[in-house]
Amino acid sequence: MNDTDSVAAYHEQELRIARDPRHPSHELPPAMPAEARILDIGCGAGQTLIASYPGRLSFGLDVDLGALRLGRGWTSSVAFACGRAEALPYRSADFDLVVARVSLPYTDITRSLHEIHRVLKPGGMVWMTLHPLGLRTRQVRWARWRSWLTFTYVLTNGLCLHVLQKQFSFFGRHESFQTEGGMRRALRRAGFHDVKIDRKRHFLFTARA
Ligand SMILES: C[S@@+](CC[C@H](N)C(=O)[O-])C[C@H]1O[C@@H](n2cnc3c(N)ncnc32)[C@H](O)[C@@H]1O
Repeated sequence: MNDTDSVAAYHEQELRIARDPRHPSHELPPAMPAEARILDIGCGAGQTLIASYPGRLSFGLDVDLGALRLGRGWTSSVAFACGRAEALPYRSADFDLVVARVSLPYTDITRSLHEIHRVLKPGGMVWMTLHPLGLRTRQVRWARWRSWLTFTYVLTNGLCLHVLQKQFSFFGRHESFQTEGGMRRALRRAGFHDVKIDRKRHFLFTARA
């Protein structure tokens, strides 16, 4: 299987999960009024938008052109754009809801949260699922030195995020684990309020701009 095949396989699997309410990893953003403007950051091929808001215009952004190409083949309802969470190519106060399902852990979270706050209308909601330390620990393959080297980097960056609300890039890549306390502080600093956390299935945060 080449890289393109594995990207497609991942997003196809996530679309199946998004469409199956009984799947243990199923977690979708809330229903929204028909006129609401919705943006998904790190949308992949648009699986969350396709399953949650079918047949209506929504917006999806990702850095991965392969995933966006796949999504354009699946739907014409999502306006896909290639870009980074840390520098969103949208006007200020443009959206009612910003969704980020397991994508912010791969970004500079402090910068991404400031951008999300900027593009949300006052009172708009961010809905995001994140990576707690336990999940990241379970993913390490200790026999592979690259895996534990990455884990050491993710661990260090997660601790920096928790204490300082700062992360460091490693060959252009940002990755961290997240904590409740660190995220509450980062959200407050970005201007959010009404922070709610739900750990039933995923590590889920919502907050208001
Ligand atoms: C684990 S996948 C999640 C995809 C989708 N949200 C889902 O729930 O299935 C993470 C996604 O975040 C994207 N991503 C990583 N870094 C990003 C960044 N800085 N800005 C925007 N998207 C990013 C990746 O390309 C990938 O599609």
